[in-house]
Amino acid sequence: MIPVKTEAEIARMREACRIAANVLAGLRAAVREGVTTYELDQLGRDLMMEEGATSACYNYRVGSRRFPAYTCISVNDEVVHGIGSPRRVLRNGDLVSLDVAVSYQGFIGDNACTVPVGEIDPRAEKLLRVTEEALQIGIDQARSGNRVGDISNAVQRHVERNGFSVVREFVGHGVGRSMHEEPQIPNFGRRGSGPRLKPGMTLAIEPMVNMGSAAVRVLDDGWTVVTRDHQPSAHFEHTVLITANEPEILTIPAPRAVGAG
Ligand code: MF3
Ligand code: CO
Repeated sequence: MIPVKTEAEIARMREACRIAANVLAGLRAAVREGVTTYELDQLGRDLMMEEGATSACYNYRVGSRRFPAYTCISVNDEVVHGIGSPRRVLRNGDLVSLDVAVSYQGFIGDNACTVPVGEIDPRAEKLLRVTEEALQIGIDQARSGNRVGDISNAVQRHVERNGFSVVREFVGHGVGRSMHEEPQIPNFGRRGSGPRLKPGMTLAIEPMVNMGSAAVRVLDDGWTVVTRDHQPSAHFEHTVLITANEPEILTIPAPRAVGAG
């Protein structure tokens, strides 16, 4: 069952997503040479607290494991689910993927982006550009009447046409009262396949794109996903509302509206 949100639920999703976007923007602005990924994670925690939100990642359970950080920070060959560390100092030329999922008044907003540290090489620039474009091209398919596979296929085609590869083991997802709801949204697949999209569905669309091969593995910490060939990876994500018309990106930074309940 794919949850279809009511207007009241959508209003709360908007708030959670606005906060998730504000926190991501704050982290992004703090990325520079010399900063540790631990400092970024602590900043993420503080920004969430200032907004009255909590981390949807902290203590997130998969089996018996609990995620130990407030945000996911993944550098270079780390794809997703990286854990901030005081030993990981950002250096010129690094690619840093920031993933922020917050919980606010019972709803979750989820977004991510990859940012360069200082000067990065042209191929890495292209990786960031193509991954962000793939997200937008996927969002363009997030329309009532389309199917999940239309999003998946559009993302995959754009990535592969540009000589990069999509990760298979991790996927986008419905998001709402839980971080991971139905449907799964793979970044590969056939046009016209999968569940049909309806107004009121809220989806986290999130291409994870590798410069080299698609193969990944999980480090011994049980969380950090890395590319097997150690080439870099990029990740962009938005939470999107399916409407009767254009898809609406909910994870856009904004101050709290005056007079908002
Ligand atoms: N925001 C990530 C996602 O889109 C979830 C990471 S939280 C973690 O799935 F706890 F699983 F790391
Ligand atoms: Co997500």
